[in-house]
Amino acid sequence: MDRWIGKVAIVTGASSGIGAAIVQALAHAGMTVAGLARRVERVEELKKKLPADAARRIYAFRCDVTSEESILDAFGAVNRQLGGVDVLINNAGVSKLTCTLLTPNNTQDLRTVMETNVMGLVLCSREAFLSMKRRQVAGHIVNINSILGHKYFAFHNLNIYGASKYAVTAITETLRNDLRNEGTKVKVTSISPGIVRTEMVPEGDQFKDTPMLEAEDIAGAVLYALGTPPHLQVHEVIIKPVGEMV
Ligand SMILES: NC(=O)c1ccc[n+]([C@@H]2O[C@H](COP(=O)([O-])OP(=O)(O)OC[C@H]3O[C@@H](n4cnc5c(N)ncnc54)[C@H](OP(=O)(O)O)[C@@H]3O)[C@@H](O)[C@H]2O)c1
Repeated sequence: MDRWIGKVAIVTGASSGIGAAIVQALAHAGMTVAGLARRVERVEELKKKLPADAARRIYAFRCDVTSEESILDAFGAVNRQLGGVDVLINNAGVSKLTCTLLTPNNTQDLRTVMETNVMGLVLCSREAFLSMKRRQVAGHIVNINSILGHKYFAFHNLNIYGASKYAVTAITETLRNDLRNEGTKVKVTSISPGIVRTEMVPEGDQFKDTPMLEAEDIAGAVLYALGTPPHLQVHEVIIKPVGEMV
């Protein structure tokens, strides 16, 4: 990770779960971290739990990844205040467990999942790449995908979430080719966890006996992918808790 010390990482969905763990891991590793979320106050809160030297490397920026205007504002602010983006962690994501694909009036929930998990990730990647290209940086884009981006599993009411993550798998490969065709050394990595203990997983008995990963496990995989030498691209990491069914 030494080559990233003092460089700038944007983490989307920094206010909770996996994103919050990645923010902390990158700050501990010496990176300057821009934590993007709608609930910026939670990113500020997170800093209070960290040692002062890690906390002062974290900056909170309000961003709703379903809004292009909000993405442009946040990336513009990071470029102005922190000098640009070297690493992007596309982590913001939602599932809407309120409906199936066939439930009446489900349109808004389905659109929210696709706008967040797919279009948000694509537009953030574009803005990060433009910053890397402008500064001739061999940066790194990491997509937090899911095991459900590789395999269909009949979780009740997961509706379009699996399709959104299959899209992330295809987008990762598309980005790899677009980055190569641009003649850059920018890397792209997809990290695909099984179930992780975060606020995304509903509370209650349903998952009582289900083995789960912790958010820090995923942050560890991000550090691994970032820490590889410049010629080596970790393309896909699938991580499952021991005993997982999927
Ligand atoms: N938990 C799992 O089992 C699991 C497994 C595989 C993959 N994943 C993936 O891991 C990623 C993180 O999920 P998590 O489990 O850590 O869930 P989480 O605790 O619910 O965190 C979701 C994060 O996404 C952000 N977010 C949601 N909508 C957003 C929007 N419109 N604009 C900006 N940020 C938005 C939230 O921030 P604000 O609400 O503050 O904006 C929050 O920080 C997601 O991509 C998810 O699909 C999770």
